[in-house]
Amino acid sequence: MADLTLGGETPAESTDGVWLTCIECGETLAPYDDVVYRCPACDGLLEVRYEEYPTFDDFEGVGVWRYADALPLEEGVSIREGNTPLYTVPRIEADVGVADLRVKHEGMNPTGAFKDRGMTVGVKVAERLGVERLACASTGNTSASLSCYGARAGTEVLVLLPAGKVAAGKVAQAALHGARILEVDGNFDACLDVVADLADRGEAYLLNSINPFRLEGQKTIGLEILEQSREATGEWPDRIVLPVGNAGNTAALYKTFRELVEAGEMAEGEMPALTGVQAEGAAPMVEAVREGRESVRRWEDVETIATAIRIGNPVNAPKALPGIRATGGTAVAVTDAEITDAQRALARDGVGVEPASAASVAGLKKLRASGEVDADERVVCLTTGHLLKDPAAAAAAGAEPTPVPADTEGVLEVL
Ligand code: F0G
Repeated sequence: MADLTLGGETPAESTDGVWLTCIECGETLAPYDDVVYRCPACDGLLEVRYEEYPTFDDFEGVGVWRYADALPLEEGVSIREGNTPLYTVPRIEADVGVADLRVKHEGMNPTGAFKDRGMTVGVKVAERLGVERLACASTGNTSASLSCYGARAGTEVLVLLPAGKVAAGKVAQAALHGARILEVDGNFDACLDVVADLADRGEAYLLNSINPFRLEGQKTIGLEILEQSREATGEWPDRIVLPVGNAGNTAALYKTFRELVEAGEMAEGEMPALTGVQAEGAAPMVEAVREGRESVRRWEDVETIATAIRIGNPVNAPKALPGIRATGGTAVAVTDAEITDAQRALARDGVGVEPASAASVAGLKKLRASGEVDADERVVCLTTGHLLKDPAAAAAAGAEPTPVPADTEGVLEVL
């Protein structure tokens, strides 16, 4: 079982109070000496660790870099990411039946998804490491974000996408920002296997969420949720419900909470219950949580309308599963029809999201109906990507246009 305990001695390898630790064997590494994604000793996942963890008083400014004291660097390659809205959703709140429901809309980031929070940090680390080419496998949003941040940094970007399974908006972003796009005859997991191999051979710097620096930026989702909730309601949420693909956000949110506990800002019992949602056709994390297992079984065949989370081998499971357990959370699978219903419900409350994002609301609804979520809970649902990412899914879920002649009488006739 992974050891996610913070604190202890600062190792000699640290630079400016920052280092990398293997969560499996405890090996410590210098942060910027070599390009490394996994533990060289045991292949375990790496985590960024700090000599000191900040308190809320240490934060100033807006957006991701408000939280610089919780990040490995003081500034990033930035296009003003973060500071996304925490919306009330009155109709869904009433329909689901919880004490308070808010939606943290990460689709309001510069490229329309939460990925920008990780890239502003990860692409800056890449600069520091002096790499020449950035790369990722992607169900779409990671590639759109990396293409944009790579362009901003002036570094070449290579993206591997599962052919025919990436929503149009995302491919368009990667294309216009100038990435080299390779369409792979295989699913996301196969793309990740190939790009991780290329990275190991020194062909490119990998910016998937296995990269520990990217997850540092994504911690700021948690910090914003806590600060915005307290400002809006006076309290932190009891539960955060989020869509799960590679489980990077689940891992990052748990790290946010652990660091706040270490800084003395949060009691362990105050950690919001991390609640993951997957599509029924791609639910290896749900299977692992429900069966009480410590690792996930890779699903070879995955399918869902929520193409962003069409993933069968969640690489961050060893960091995320302990988070779900330690916070008293759970995981649930939803059908494509439930996802589309939730996408429509969010749209009626004025929040336009892509299908994967709506999974969070669909999952909450299901868990409330089964009684696993109580009526007195204060809940935040994370919506991870913007409606315009997947125009085809939005159009299919929405109203049909009515053809009319080009005159007022003809228009009045159909009204
Ligand atoms: N929601 C959206 C819109 C996503 O694009 C992703 C992941 C997730 C949720 C899952 O997040 O991996 O942290 O559990 N998209 C990746 C990509 C895989 O390539 O864009 P996670």
